[in-house]
Amino acid sequence: MPATIIMGGMWGDEGKGKLTDALASNADIVVRANGGSNAGHTVETDLGVFKLHLVPSGILHPGVICAIGAGVVIEPRTLITELDNLIARGIDVSNLRISDRAHIVMPWHPLIDKLEEQRREGEEIGTTLRGNGPAYADKVSRHGLRMADMRRLDGLRRKLAIELDARNQILQGVYGQEPLDFNRIYRDFVEYADRLVPYLTPTEVLVQDALENDRRVLVECAQAALLDIDYGTYPYVTSSSPTAAGACQGAGVAPTQVEKIIGVYKAYTTRVGAGPMPAELKDETGELIRRRGNEYGTTTGRPRRTGWYDAVAARHTRRLNGVTDIALTLLDVLDPFPEISLCTAYEGPEGEFTHLPALIEDLEGVEPVWARIAGWQEDITRVRSYDELPAQARAYLATIESLTGAPITFIGVGPAREALIDRRLAEARS
Ligand code: GDP
Ligand code: IMO
Ligand code: MG
Repeated sequence: MPATIIMGGMWGDEGKGKLTDALASNADIVVRANGGSNAGHTVETDLGVFKLHLVPSGILHPGVICAIGAGVVIEPRTLITELDNLIARGIDVSNLRISDRAHIVMPWHPLIDKLEEQRREGEEIGTTLRGNGPAYADKVSRHGLRMADMRRLDGLRRKLAIELDARNQILQGVYGQEPLDFNRIYRDFVEYADRLVPYLTPTEVLVQDALENDRRVLVECAQAALLDIDYGTYPYVTSSSPTAAGACQGAGVAPTQVEKIIGVYKAYTTRVGAGPMPAELKDETGELIRRRGNEYGTTTGRPRRTGWYDAVAARHTRRLNGVTDIALTLLDVLDPFPEISLCTAYEGPEGEFTHLPALIEDLEGVEPVWARIAGWQEDITRVRSYDELPAQARAYLATIESLTGAPITFIGVGPAREALIDRRLAEARS
């Protein structure tokens, strides 16, 4: 039984959490592949609204194993708080598994994240300040501590002493900060270990065993392809690989074991944080989209930048990730618009281009080329099948399919779990 990947197609917050929750009812394992508590995944069910940061979005389905994969970076206190909140709301978290290879976001990481942003003065990335960038940097430079270290506190104590000493020299010498206290951090880690070690396991073995035994594995990415460290709008990106390839790596799935790659795209574009966004609208239309889509960050509460659907960026990520199916979310947000635009190319000083250039300076000055299409001006929030959608909405979907280059299989028409059109059901009926 092959695996399915759910990944963000744009700059994040496309509704990956909702789709993962919806598809988890037919999964045996949901594995989160990348990112950390910079992610905010919203799931809305009869039990209320859940904002998940580290816990996979399958957790609301009893019986589904939810694994935090090796590619994730974990801030232990945040994870414990998230688990406590879920438990307080009656959610059973005993099916959680945590990769013993996942790296730990250490107390100095959020601090360095903030100090580095301050040093950029005017060129801030607009990070979530959760310490993800510095944690991934330490992982790659082999200074990381991993969840497995919590199993042997004597070893953890030794590694912590070495790393903290180096970090304190930087905090004091480079940033003029007070050093962090070893004993306090170690004490906290004794408590974290007590709480989290029972969940630790080699999740890649769990996933491989599941695939071998014909179990259904769903891989949930955080962030999105345009925030990818290699193919996103560098340096205004995150520090992991929220791509289909990154999903394999982070979840412990081989590329040959993947059948479906679902790219989640909004019916329009949003971005939170700095960096180029060619289809951005800084006018009343953008404000109306923000208001209707409730476009405020799940993790930081920051207003998201909004714009029309950017088919150039969408095609770029569809191709690089081999997206087999598009989940087009928040279509209902566009209900009142008499006319809807889509960005089909970027007009630069040297002509039009239809790909994302490496240098963001080349992207910053471009003008979007718009295609316009009639809106449907109808409430679609109660529609549950593709055929019931207004003709203009179907025309909009067909335009997106043709510009992006993949079929739209899922359509979001509201935040609730059931507000989802699944075109596979119609196909199965016919
Ligand atoms: P994620 O990070 O990709 O999981 O997305 P977020 O949860 O950060 O942001 C998506 C927001 O859109 C959340 O507030 C969801 O409840 C909401 N949402 C998801 N799908 C739909 C949809 O189809 N329609 C509407 N109106 N809201 C949606
Ligand atoms: P989900 O999973 C939207 C953005 C930040 C910033 C940049 C770098 O909910 O879609 P970081 O803290 O990762 O170093 O910040 O990436 N960013 C996100 N934007 N959704 C997210 O996650 C994001 N995670 C990071 O705003 O621009
Ligand atoms: Mg989000």
